[in-house]
Amino acid sequence: MLKIFTFLALLNQCNCAPANTSTNGDVAPCLKEFYQPAYDGIYNCTKEFDFFVENSTSEIFKSGKSCFLQIAEEECSVSQYNLLSTRYQDFLDVITKKPKNESDCENFHFKYNAIKCQPLMDDLGLKDAVLQKRHTKINDSRVLELIDLCDNALTCMSSNCYYFKTEVSIVSAFCETVKMSNSEFKACEWKIERESPDLSEYECLEGDDFYDPAILNKYRFYTKMKDCTKEIMMDICGEKAVVGFEKYAELSADFLIKAAKMQRAMSEVMDEDGSENDEEDD
Ligand SMILES: *[C@@H]1O[C@H](CO)[C@@H](O)[C@H](O)[C@H]1NC(C)=O
Ligand SMILES: *[C@@H]1O[C@H](CO)[C@@H](O)[C@H](O)[C@H]1NC(C)=O
Ligand SMILES: *[C@@H]1O[C@H](CO)[C@@H](O)[C@H](O)[C@H]1NC(C)=O
Ligand SMILES: *[C@@H]1O[C@H](CO)[C@@H](O)[C@H](O)[C@H]1NC(C)=O
Ligand SMILES: *[C@@H]1O[C@H](CO)[C@@H](O)[C@H](O)[C@H]1NC(C)=O
Repeated sequence: MLKIFTFLALLNQCNCAPANTSTNGDVAPCLKEFYQPAYDGIYNCTKEFDFFVENSTSEIFKSGKSCFLQIAEEECSVSQYNLLSTRYQDFLDVITKKPKNESDCENFHFKYNAIKCQPLMDDLGLKDAVLQKRHTKINDSRVLELIDLCDNALTCMSSNCYYFKTEVSIVSAFCETVKMSNSEFKACEWKIERESPDLSEYECLEGDDFYDPAILNKYRFYTKMKDCTKEIMMDICGEKAVVGFEKYAELSADFLIKAAKMQRAMSEVMDEDGSENDEEDD
């Protein structure tokens, strides 16, 4: 599988770029520093306050003021901390009150709130990178946890004006592939990869190598030659492996295209930097 981690890392640019001008002073840099340790739970006080709950931001930031400021003092620059501690009420108003014009996505309310999705996405990318190296069984608790995390990240990102629709749809498609990793379809792919049965008898392969790991080859086996793939999977794993086959084949093909594009984009970025190309694991 490909490096989804780097792929999600490209989404780091949420709707939280430092603003040019702001009447209240832009505290987005500090919020970025705040949400990660809050997510990781490394400050004891965050156990009492769930800074990530969407529907009670107001109460949490009011009652959790001292906890918030304690973390900000440690993690943020002096000027950001001073800004926040002296004008906490201004900050509170911005982060808790939805602007009257809800399509004004440039509003700081959205910029600030969107930042809390980032730790979820980073966590998702990291955990996925770890699991992709393993061939997990169906209902592996780590995979189920990843599916939950995906749902949470997606819910967070989907709030009005937090992220661009294109970004939400990338993560949404990614989450579909995460769910697919818990399917009989995927379990069968892994079984075939692991056991590498001799497939030379299959006429539908027309002499092609089913095991050639090149992206283009894999892509063909999910598209033009998918009937052949289906036949092989059914023979080796039984009927259950091809339930939802069309959907999974399409998802796999889409994913390969995106991954290939992403890889190309990444290597172009690397080339511009004058550094070495990102090596491929598989
Ligand atoms: C920042 O805002 C000022 C005043 O609105 C504007 O003149 C300037 O071009 C802006 N700078 C950038 C980099 O957007
Ligand atoms: C957090 O709580 C644990 C257990 O109650 C305690 O041992 C630790 O010292 C506390 N850490 C901080 C930074 O207060
Ligand atoms: C906030 O959401 C949680 C879980 O989604 C729910 O249990 C709680 O009642 C909600 N609170 C408010 C004030 O809507
Ligand atoms: C709301 O904000 C959008 C985007 O900035 C703008 O196009 C629209 O005119 C605004 N609507 C009102 C009623 O101000
Ligand atoms: C996985 O869990 C689901 C829901 O609990 C259950 O219906 C299904 O039979 C399980 N599958 C396997 C292979 O354990």
